[in-house]
Amino acid sequence: MKKIGVLTSGGDAPGMNAAIRAVVRKAICHNIEVYGIKYGFQGLMEGTIEKMEIGSVGDIIHRGGTMLYSARSEAFKTEEGQQKAIEQLNKFGIEGLIVIGGDGSFRGAQKLTEKGYPCIGVPGTIDNDIAGTDFTIGFDTALNTVIEAIDKVRDTATSHKRTYIIEVMGRNAGDIALWAGLADGAESILIPEKKEKFETVVQKLKRGHKRGKKHSIIILAEGVGSGIEYGKRIEEATDLETRVTVLGHIQRGGSPSAADRVLASRLAAKAVDLLMAGKAGRMVGIQQNEIVDHEINKILHEQHTINDDMYTLSQELSI
Ligand code: F6P
Repeated sequence: MKKIGVLTSGGDAPGMNAAIRAVVRKAICHNIEVYGIKYGFQGLMEGTIEKMEIGSVGDIIHRGGTMLYSARSEAFKTEEGQQKAIEQLNKFGIEGLIVIGGDGSFRGAQKLTEKGYPCIGVPGTIDNDIAGTDFTIGFDTALNTVIEAIDKVRDTATSHKRTYIIEVMGRNAGDIALWAGLADGAESILIPEKKEKFETVVQKLKRGHKRGKKHSIIILAEGVGSGIEYGKRIEEATDLETRVTVLGHIQRGGSPSAADRVLASRLAAKAVDLLMAGKAGRMVGIQQNEIVDHEINKILHEQHTINDDMYTLSQELSI
């Protein structure tokens, strides 16, 4: 393999730049040319492709976002879109592609692989919702952003003796909410994977209030529903003054944590190794601190699961 491409796609995640840097440097180390594709699969179809050098990825390891920009492309989901993408790759003589993103991006990588174009997936999403890897790039940073925000909310919650609902990201996955809830001692954690009865949450809040608690924090993953609506119902049912904070896209930005920079570097380097070894349709991951790889197609048919012991522990510690 003499020329490879790299793109970031879907929701961006802190650490994507560290991954791009590792792809470029590792490949150049092995005398492989690297082409950066801007704006994900959309940019690939449109041919926004540039050759990258060692210096192209200087001073980016600590930066959030992605220097290659990102997009969610509807056009690429069509047969015509995929053909256009392949034409562009052929035009530039790119022989293999590294796709950094989440499950939607991997569906794209799988499609190209099925059409004979070798792709390797690198899991980059703050949601930590990909099977076959214990962690995705960006999750640790997002988690720390959430913790910092909750710590601040806590101060004002105590001053005013209020209940707070904190809505965090996670469309179909509760990892951010679960980890943040455990790290921040939340009263209740509401995630798509576990159904917590409304009555149970209300009883817990009332019990805490009786015991003299100065504030209560409930963390709700966006996949469960609207935090604003939930807050209204809680205030009505408990008669406790309640406020809602929706953290939103703030969770996707910021300088990546050390853990994310290291993870991104390790995973991206492995992706280059796989292309060099002639592999295609694989996703790299980390399991028990070992860098592994799996068939993308298999991963797409599996569900990421939350850690049940952590969920139980969070309940035990918030009685
Ligand atoms: O996939 C990551 C994610 O941040 C989800 O948690 C969130 O639901 C979604 O992206 C938001 O996407 P967008 O930036 O397109 O609104």
